[in-house]
Amino acid sequence: MEEQQAQAKKLILSGIQPTGTITLGNYLGAVQNWQKMQTEFDSIFFVADMHALTVRREPSEFRQTALNFFAQFLACGLDPRQCIMYFQSHVRQHAELQWILNCNTYVGEASRMTQFKDKSAKHADNINMGLMDYPVLMAADILLFQSDLVPVGIDQKQHLELTRDIAIRFNNRYGETFKVPEGYIPTTGAKICSLQDPTSKMSKSDPDENATVSVTDDEATIVRRFKRAVTDSGSEICVREDKPGISNLINIYAAIENKSPQDVEREFAGQGYGTFKIAVGEAVAAKFNPIREDFLRYSADKKYLAELARDGAEKAASLAERTMRKVRKKVGFVAF
Ligand code: TYM
Repeated sequence: MEEQQAQAKKLILSGIQPTGTITLGNYLGAVQNWQKMQTEFDSIFFVADMHALTVRREPSEFRQTALNFFAQFLACGLDPRQCIMYFQSHVRQHAELQWILNCNTYVGEASRMTQFKDKSAKHADNINMGLMDYPVLMAADILLFQSDLVPVGIDQKQHLELTRDIAIRFNNRYGETFKVPEGYIPTTGAKICSLQDPTSKMSKSDPDENATVSVTDDEATIVRRFKRAVTDSGSEICVREDKPGISNLINIYAAIENKSPQDVEREFAGQGYGTFKIAVGEAVAAKFNPIREDFLRYSADKKYLAELARDGAEKAASLAERTMRKVRKKVGFVAF
């Protein structure tokens, strides 16, 4: 018995919306940790294509982007022998659970979500039901698998809190059904900021291409964007509230090199911004070069991607079904 308990691994789950490509922010806030954690935990990672539909997409481009994300998962080191990887839309239990959770979530709660408010302002011509319901789908994603830990960047914290509230409410109402998950937010890398506006988050959908770098960018592009990164007045390389530009670069370098921000401050003490920006660009490029090459290789092998996706969806659906059987019974759906 003791041995069995020692062997039971905790389960981590996370997803990413397929828009554009995986950025440095996504990589340091989430995907790099997924890669590191996959051996220690039972792991489930998915392309959150249903979430991405809350914004209008051109179907053929959307399909290609989603497939490319799957190839980028592999290129970033997710190993299908260690983890389950799949497309959210291939596992219908996500939508099924979302409906049931919808009936246990208040409109007031959903409308208070910061991302809902931000996205409503940004897409004022398309404030659809999905946009508001988005965090409930996310709760369904997480609760469906009885996840213990959810490795995400800081911007998802509020959605995780809502997920916990929904799980606790459901358990109180219907009896113990869902595990109440914890967030796993890294100490460095949880919020990588735009290279052009270091007071705002680096985002996949930023129209200014100089604001982001992505795992599929080549070395010259990456170094050029870091050279152009907006910095602050003064010349000292240190993390400080009035130095958002340099603080962001220090954070990036620390997360890439697995160092603390204080180590980075010491390493570059007395050097100029110019030298530091190039060093950060080169470190990021060195990390992303092999990822870009692997991405090109994997994305060309459609047959392999399809096999993996089918296999991943089958495994995920079978786990999800275990929870759904419980949930259907708890809420009182007829079963024969
Ligand atoms: P998404 O697609 O916006 O981002 C994917 C992951 O990257 C993190 N992230 C960042 N981390 C640091 N700095 C940044 N600038 C940055 N930008 C993004 C995000 O926190 C996230 O971890 N709703 C989610 C996807 C999702 C999900 C889930 C996640 C759907 N279902 C269930 C966890 C569990 C989202 O839009 O992430």
